[in-house]
Amino acid sequence: MADLRKEIERRRTFAIISHPDAGKTTLTEKFLLYGGAINLAGSVKGKATARHAVSDWMEIEKERGISVTSSVLQFNYDGFCINILDTPGHQDFSEDTYRTLMAADSAVMVIDGSKGVEAQTRKLFKVCVMRHIPIFTFINKMDRDANDTFDLLDEIEKELGIATCPINWPIGSGKEFKGVYDRNTRQVLLFSDTLKGTKEGHQVSLSIDDPKIDEYITAEQKETLFEEIELMDGASAEFDQELVSKGELSPVFFGSALTNFGVETFLEHFLKMTTSPLPRKADIGLIDPFSEDFSAFVFKIQANMNKAHRDRIAFMRITSGRFDAGMEVIHVQGNNKKLRLSQPQQMMAQDRKIVEEAYAGDIIGVFDPGIFSIGDTILTGNHKFQFEGIPTFAPEHFAKVRQVDTMKRKQFVKGINQIAQEGAIQIFQEYNTGMEEIIVGVVGVLQFDVLKYRLENEYNVEIRLENMPHEHIRWIENKEIDLDKLSGTSDMKKIQDLKGRPLLLFVNAWSVNMTVERNEGLELSEFGRE
Ligand code: G4P
Repeated sequence: MADLRKEIERRRTFAIISHPDAGKTTLTEKFLLYGGAINLAGSVKGKATARHAVSDWMEIEKERGISVTSSVLQFNYDGFCINILDTPGHQDFSEDTYRTLMAADSAVMVIDGSKGVEAQTRKLFKVCVMRHIPIFTFINKMDRDANDTFDLLDEIEKELGIATCPINWPIGSGKEFKGVYDRNTRQVLLFSDTLKGTKEGHQVSLSIDDPKIDEYITAEQKETLFEEIELMDGASAEFDQELVSKGELSPVFFGSALTNFGVETFLEHFLKMTTSPLPRKADIGLIDPFSEDFSAFVFKIQANMNKAHRDRIAFMRITSGRFDAGMEVIHVQGNNKKLRLSQPQQMMAQDRKIVEEAYAGDIIGVFDPGIFSIGDTILTGNHKFQFEGIPTFAPEHFAKVRQVDTMKRKQFVKGINQIAQEGAIQIFQEYNTGMEEIIVGVVGVLQFDVLKYRLENEYNVEIRLENMPHEHIRWIENKEIDLDKLSGTSDMKKIQDLKGRPLLLFVNAWSVNMTVERNEGLELSEFGRE
């Protein structure tokens, strides 16, 4: 089983997050370029032409120019087997980002050097912090005039509340961007032209004390660099692997994804600082990734990835052992049913390929006939267990859904249930009124559009959404509370989820507090755990 250990040890699974346009796609392309997965950077999605090559599954993405879903890419580099999880940049889909992060062991945050921390960086970062995973920062677009380096670091620390530790330091920015200084090795990495970023660039590495660097950088740049190094050594946090692993200290790198400056050095450092797959929490304790028994959990379900075949793919993160195509597995939440995972596949750049084998750390997508739900555990071996559920975000927008054509009840129920199973929306019903009315809750309003669009296009059902004024949802934690006797505010609405669990909806936070005050012992929670 030496092979199993070796294979798992070389796995690195991480997610990339950024505010739209900071350069996440470009950076991913360059990673693939170094890994030899593609010859010319630009084939992941060359914006106008192939912007949607990877996730071309829904018109809404094209119309809005945002990546709604996230994709997974695998490639090899320097002996490592790397799984990159792409995340949607738009805030309305941050729940999807959160689920994707559940499958990642670390995150790379891409920041535009001329913009600093942006709205979406803030939101996604918060989601990262909830997972307590290491967060690495890549400050991109240094080939454009960037903000002052100290200011950028300050902003990250203040706005995001994480300590930073620059691993390298930029020499100039914009036209004057010459390279980076590596604080650990005291080497200056000077970059040459990289044929507009389509080929690997040549770089020269010189000691900071080597007089030859004068041929590359001006006396003024050198002086600034020395001053900044001195300042930085006095001011910034020391590198501490333990703090990095806990997600309390973010190593920072500078570069330009477009021109390939600093990408490879980032990748090299990052791969060393981040870990191989970590043990995962289950109801019987931690599950060792190196265990010979295979286990995995479903973190994402995506329908209609391929328009030609109406399919639904369940994405699983392998948490232990090795997966072999054709092996029999147990679906724990499916009453421990034995099954074979059908058409297991992995994404390689823009292609999907059938996987023969995969290891802890890897992500596989399997054909889902509608049996899987987010958070499900799949395993082999004698010990049955369930991984910790993936919490659902509290929806902040609610609407009543009405079918236009009431004859299509069956399709409507099927469609809305399947979309809810994928985690794109949450559905509720009126509590104890006997009414069949369905209430939909979403984290971001764009998800309403997605629902409407998909019901029409995939299930041929037209719906009307009637927005509700409620913005706050609470799960009732104590079982003994008699919901009929609960005295709430006038705006409070009692509803139940599909499992019959009671919930409360409120228009504002004041009402939430008022209701808690009025009902002694009432415990409300913002998360609905499975
Ligand atoms: P995203 O996935 O985070 O949304 O960003 P993406 O990589 O698509 O990059 C957004 C824009 O920023 C693109 O320009 C891209 O070329 C540019 N970009 C990315 N990295 C760098 C960099 O290091 N330096 C500079 N100067 N630009 C960078 P675009 O004009 O929107 O598209 P395109 O027509 O150039 O492809």
